[in-house]
Amino acid sequence: MLLSLTFPLLALGALLPIAANNAPEVTRDIRVRSPIAFSAASPLVKTTNYLTLGKKDRHNPRAASSILAKNSSLISLFGSAQFDTNVTFGDQTFELLVDTGSSDTWVIHSDFTCVSQTTSALLTQAACASGPAYTKTPEFVQIPDENFNITYGDGEFLTGILGYENLTLAGITVNTTIPIVDFAAWDGDDTSSGLLGLGYPNVTRAYVGTDPHNDSVHAFYDPIFTTMYKQGLVAPMFSLAIERDLSGPAGYLALGGLPPVDFMEEFTSTPIVITRLANTQKYPVEYDFYSINMDAVVLDNVSLPSAANGTAYSYLVDSGTTLNYFPTELADAVAAAYNPPAIHQPDDDGTYYVDCNATAPGLGLTIGGTTFWTNPIDMIQVSGTDDDGNDICVSGIYNEGSDPTTDKFVLGCTFFQECSCCI
Ligand SMILES: *[C@@H]1O[C@H](CO)[C@@H](O)[C@H](O)[C@H]1NC(C)=O
Ligand SMILES: *[C@@H]1O[C@H](CO)[C@@H](O)[C@H](O)[C@H]1NC(C)=O
Ligand SMILES: *[C@@H]1O[C@H](CO)[C@@H](O)[C@H](O)[C@H]1NC(C)=O
Ligand SMILES: *[C@@H]1O[C@H](CO)[C@@H](O)[C@H](O)[C@H]1NC(C)=O
Ligand SMILES: *[C@@H]1O[C@H](CO)[C@@H](O)[C@H](O)[C@H]1NC(C)=O
Ligand SMILES: *[C@@H]1O[C@H](CO)[C@@H](O)[C@H](O)[C@H]1NC(C)=O
Ligand SMILES: *[C@@H]1O[C@H](CO)[C@@H](O)[C@H](O)[C@H]1NC(C)=O
Ligand SMILES: *[C@@H]1O[C@H](CO)[C@@H](O)[C@H](O)[C@H]1NC(C)=O
Ligand SMILES: *[C@@H]1O[C@H](CO)[C@@H](O)[C@H](O)[C@H]1NC(C)=O
Ligand SMILES: *[C@@H]1O[C@H](CO)[C@@H](O)[C@H](O)[C@H]1NC(C)=O
Repeated sequence: MLLSLTFPLLALGALLPIAANNAPEVTRDIRVRSPIAFSAASPLVKTTNYLTLGKKDRHNPRAASSILAKNSSLISLFGSAQFDTNVTFGDQTFELLVDTGSSDTWVIHSDFTCVSQTTSALLTQAACASGPAYTKTPEFVQIPDENFNITYGDGEFLTGILGYENLTLAGITVNTTIPIVDFAAWDGDDTSSGLLGLGYPNVTRAYVGTDPHNDSVHAFYDPIFTTMYKQGLVAPMFSLAIERDLSGPAGYLALGGLPPVDFMEEFTSTPIVITRLANTQKYPVEYDFYSINMDAVVLDNVSLPSAANGTAYSYLVDSGTTLNYFPTELADAVAAAYNPPAIHQPDDDGTYYVDCNATAPGLGLTIGGTTFWTNPIDMIQVSGTDDDGNDICVSGIYNEGSDPTTDKFVLGCTFFQECSCCI
């Protein structure tokens, strides 16, 4: 599928002192607002600023979003895939995983310390299975009195320093703020050396001070793509094209336009919704994730509203999350529509187990008036094998809960239709 995300141009206030924030975890304000864009949507034109994507199979994939703390046995079982692309730091090129669910573009530093995710015990660097490491050069200018500290949804965590470096992505060079990671609990894939975070400034994870253990005050910064479009180097949109046929590139990331693919799909447009109210003066309009509302979930031929008591649920569009995370009533309805039905195991989380040979329901997601049908092969995913060597299968839809203030609904891999890895 081809997905393009347009950055509404934000009105920027003066760069005033940064507000304190002692609550790094997300709590949603139940009021959902649609943003007021400061310019019209960028035209849908192909660009020459694109990169090919490679597909990375990870035995222990991250649930992508930095903030999505998932408590799921599923995630540790999945042999899911992520995408990476080449990014040049100064004159050193690395493959980085592409993540629309976080905002920091970081690279591992040559002298980093690798620790255990569960015990924090010291490990060899090799245990983190990182790709090649970045070596600081005189061009790298460290930002004093700031540090980087992030915990991803699957429990991986990193700390490091921040500084300026010239980054080149899809032929565009920009001097931007980046974290350099020197302390990592990371389960790598042996080739990628970090992450390319394409989210908004609000989700960056820089803090005031030099000791990560003391982190409480955020030091927001403009991530790479924000820096590019603010400097007028690129139109404020990027797109991802995901290929199911892996005989060529696994897909494309295009900056400022559409990638060089032929497409017949109908485009739809929908506002990015603001799920929380701003309280920082530096970024007065607080976009955080790529959250959108859906009009409806179509189950076979029945259209179910994606709303509770008239309030629409919002969903994060996240290139790094494996499944779609739905509100309970919709997830239950989908599960019941498999033949035979998908079921929860006692004492389990939001996973629905399903016969690998089941018939999946037709699942359409109506966004901006257009219904996108999910490929049935993405509706049943192999999550592991049982003691007898038989496959264990799960639904492509996860039950996230029903509380829009605490639960994070996601359109992930099941929506992006790139789950062929798992079949
Ligand atoms: C990154 O660049 C190298 C060297 O040109 C190339 O072999 C590799 O396929 C590229 N990776 C991706 C994901 O395009
Ligand atoms: C989920 O979290 C609860 C409470 O923290 C814990 O008891 C349970 O073991 C966790 N489940 C999984 C699958 O990690
Ligand atoms: C990037 O910008 C910073 C801050 O203005 C500057 O100190 C640094 O030298 C610049 N780096 C490069 C590579 O131009
Ligand atoms: C860094 O990039 C800027 C353009 O953004 C360029 O003017 C400058 O010469 C570059 N610095 C180095 C050291 O390459
Ligand atoms: C971290 O906080 C502790 C306790 O407040 C303080 O003693 C220490 O100096 C702080 N460290 C740094 C590097 O600021
Ligand atoms: C990251 O920051 C939190 C406080 O926000 C702190 O508890 C944690 O120890 C820090 N991580 C590391 C690895 O220092
Ligand atoms: C992001 O924006 C929200 C308000 O929308 C604010 O409460 C929060 O402090 C900002 N920063 C982070 C890191 O969440
Ligand atoms: C759905 O399709 C079935 C079989 O074609 C039909 O019997 C049923 O009335 C339809 N339901 C709706 C709501 O259109
Ligand atoms: C809708 O409102 C009713 C009555 O206030 C309440 O009982 C119910 O839990 C609400 N449903 C949801 C999904 O919030
Ligand atoms: C699915 O069906 C095939 C044959 O049609 C059978 O070999 C396989 O065991 C079945 N798998 C499950 C999980 O029932």
